Amino acid sequence: MPAQPQPVAGDDLVVHVNGLTKRFGNTLAVDDVSLDVHRSELVVLLGLSGSGKSTLLRCLNGLHASTSGVVDVVGHRVDRASRSELRALRREVGFVFQHFNLVGRISCLENVLLGGLGRLKCARYGALTYPKRMRAEALEHLDRVGLADLAHRRADTLSGGQQQRVAIARTLMQRPTVLLADEPVASLDPENAGVVMDLLFQVCVEEKLTILCTLHQVDLALGWAHRIVGLRSGQKVLDRSTIGLTRDEVMEVYQRVDPDLTTPSTTAVRRR
Ligand SMILES: Nc1ncnc2c1ncn2[C@@H]1O[C@H](COP(=O)(O)OP(=O)(O)OP(=O)(O)O)[C@@H](O)[C@H]1O
Ligand SMILES: [Mg+2]
Repeated sequence: MPAQPQPVAGDDLVVHVNGLTKRFGNTLAVDDVSLDVHRSELVVLLGLSGSGKSTLLRCLNGLHASTSGVVDVVGHRVDRASRSELRALRREVGFVFQHFNLVGRISCLENVLLGGLGRLKCARYGALTYPKRMRAEALEHLDRVGLADLAHRRADTLSGGQQQRVAIARTLMQRPTVLLADEPVASLDPENAGVVMDLLFQVCVEEKLTILCTLHQVDLALGWAHRIVGLRSGQKVLDRSTIGLTRDEVMEVYQRVDPDLTTPSTTAVRRR
């Protein structure tokens, strides 16, 4: 049984968002959101489809330029960063995607090594062309996610859950301060979803990583997050520690704006 989430101690501010607004033409995707996230905190973003979760994440690493507001991530002012500043920022901010984004025809080990490319001066082809110490580090990360045995297997021969664990190992290889995960378990069955959430929780606590993760499963959020932020039509409508937070309180985030929208499924078992 994994460790229970603990309250976050200290006040190391890693992400500071103040009055963030993002428009796509006439669409107001993120509407005046303010949010502070601290070191070693796992924050889950919840909300109906289209509520602005992915857009908010993408504004944090500059994949989307914000329309207005302050976005400060690990001391970088993302909202006014130059291209070179964005490159520096992205070395410190790992991103985990729903569909893993591994290179299928190369080994798991080489996929993880790709996460360390930012530390090298030139591209490498083949795991053996990386420095020995980096190969050892990549193996340690694979071991961390429980897949050292599969280091030399082609990535596209792994199950979805295994591929997501390799993707997390690749992100760890980047030595990030912040990890953004956009629906990291959406393609996984409930058991594998729990395994991946547990892994994210472990690296958050043990590596003191700050994690922001979007989910559609309320029970996973209640089970693994330190804190839940709820978005509705781009606005922040909930921002609470999971300690003492009830499922009913979270479900208010899903108060329908459009009666045709359906409530998301909640398939996983609560841990506490
Ligand atoms: N690149 C884009 N161009 C135009 N509109 C966009 C773009 N990206 C997102 N939007 C719009 O912004 C709003 C918020 O989208 P976003 O993808 O952030 O929602 P979400 O909460 O992540 O939804 P889901 O749960 O379905 O992933 C939506 O109305 C969407 O159509
Ligand atoms: Mg999304």
